[in-house]
Amino acid sequence: MSNSISAVFIASEGVPYVKTGGLADVVGALPKALKDIGHDVRIILPKYSKIDTSKYQLERFQDSMGVWMGDGIQEWCAVDVAYLPGDIPVYFIENWKFFDRDGIYNDASNRDFNDNPERYAFFTRAALQLCIDQRWDVDIIHSHDWQTALAPAYLKSWFANEPTLGRAASVFTIHNIQYQGNFPKTRWPYIGLGWENFTSDRFEDHDRINYMKGGIAFADIVNTVSPTYAYETKSTELGMGMSGQLLAKGDAYAGILNGVDYADWNPATDPHLTANYAPGDMSGKAACKKALQEMFGLEVNPDIPLIGVVSRFADQKGLDLYYAAIHQALRDMNVQFVVLGSGDKTLEGYYMALPNQYPGKVGTFIGYDNPKAHLIEAGADFFAMTSRFEPCGLNQMYSLKYGTLPIVRATGGLADTVVQYNESTGEGTGFKYTDNTPAAIANVIGWAVSTYYDRKEHLTAMVERAMQQDFSWIQSAHQYENLYRRAIQIKRG
Ligand code: ADP
Ligand code: GLC
Repeated sequence: MSNSISAVFIASEGVPYVKTGGLADVVGALPKALKDIGHDVRIILPKYSKIDTSKYQLERFQDSMGVWMGDGIQEWCAVDVAYLPGDIPVYFIENWKFFDRDGIYNDASNRDFNDNPERYAFFTRAALQLCIDQRWDVDIIHSHDWQTALAPAYLKSWFANEPTLGRAASVFTIHNIQYQGNFPKTRWPYIGLGWENFTSDRFEDHDRINYMKGGIAFADIVNTVSPTYAYETKSTELGMGMSGQLLAKGDAYAGILNGVDYADWNPATDPHLTANYAPGDMSGKAACKKALQEMFGLEVNPDIPLIGVVSRFADQKGLDLYYAAIHQALRDMNVQFVVLGSGDKTLEGYYMALPNQYPGKVGTFIGYDNPKAHLIEAGADFFAMTSRFEPCGLNQMYSLKYGTLPIVRATGGLADTVVQYNESTGEGTGFKYTDNTPAAIANVIGWAVSTYYDRKEHLTAMVERAMQQDFSWIQSAHQYENLYRRAIQIKRG
């Protein structure tokens, strides 16, 4: 093996092409960092019809590719290619039956597509077929979350003796253990892995298929996206049924903290901001706060603390608790809230009603909007993440860079990246709390707000400290490099 590792990322989303959450940020950024330290990375994504093919200059790469699934079914697809900065090739699997629709995983009513098991089984098989057709020299197949969790099993069954992929080791990264890809077993034949793999130590879970469970079992190495979450997922409470499977991996299960792509998330260069800023001259941040207050219909006043949220509306994020805490906080303090997000329809309704209940105090935007997300990072004074669990979380790391102090629950990656404020010394980079209750959230908001009003010198020093934190990808890339080497060792003995 030469020193340079050749890895293929197989994933269901990646920036800038398609994104529903942090997985896309990771898939768009980690390959660049791996390339910077001398490795060779390719990315394979589905070609969703909502991807802007002319903006991203997709070009036809392979006209037609046959992909065998189970039960003797053959699917057909084409393959496009585009390039990320740094000359990283990104291949897109085109099959309109599976990927020509509005929505990535679900429809406009937030209901999962019924054919998700087939969509992602096909995509994963097709991605591996592309490696074979192109005779790439692959050391590592790196798959992500349930959508591509079948890859390790395909490698060890279908392709165990295939000349190109027979030598490839598999790394499976869990970004979120709540979404496991759980389907009725009637869907198993299409997947093509045989009933011998539908067992309780592999893919079977209460007589249903569990993609993630099989991914964990078959991968040479499994990791998740922060050390604390790696630890937490080995417990019954946060393992969500997978703790036994993860414990069985022993030291082939690790935690590596995500990084930040500072090319995208840096207040000094961010094109989405009203004004740029950097430590030493924070006037641009004040301009962003004013713009944010105007955009969200809040009272324009530089002296009222403003707390931002940008989030998927999913149970994981604790936004039901946050909603209750907002009412409590607004009874007791002069503070403003901005919320950007979408997902759960009930929560969307609750948050949409808030600006009328608290005019000038609460601003809501329901939807997905990247420029607004950047402006919130810059214009808010604090950024809240009230997660019930959080594998890593990226927004709190973005917030630090933007001098927007995180208010977070001490869980997963949030616990690993935010340093608790110490009221007697002034140390810290944010505000952490533990209890999953509206009262605890209102309480920590009160702590941050009182620091804003009463301990200005602490706050200013914390902002400066926060902006100096460095979570660039390079450190994590070195850890992935080690992980890859271990996976290759395990695979090749
Ligand atoms: P998760 O992946 O669980 O959603 P992360 O914190 O890892 O959480 O990443 C979320 C990413 O998605 C961040 O880059 C955040 O800015 C972005 N994001 C989430 N919701 C929205 C939204 N409504 N509009 C724009 N960006 C969003
Ligand atoms: C998931 C997690 C989030 C993590 C992201 C990228 O969606 O919920 O915590 O940052 O993946 O790894």
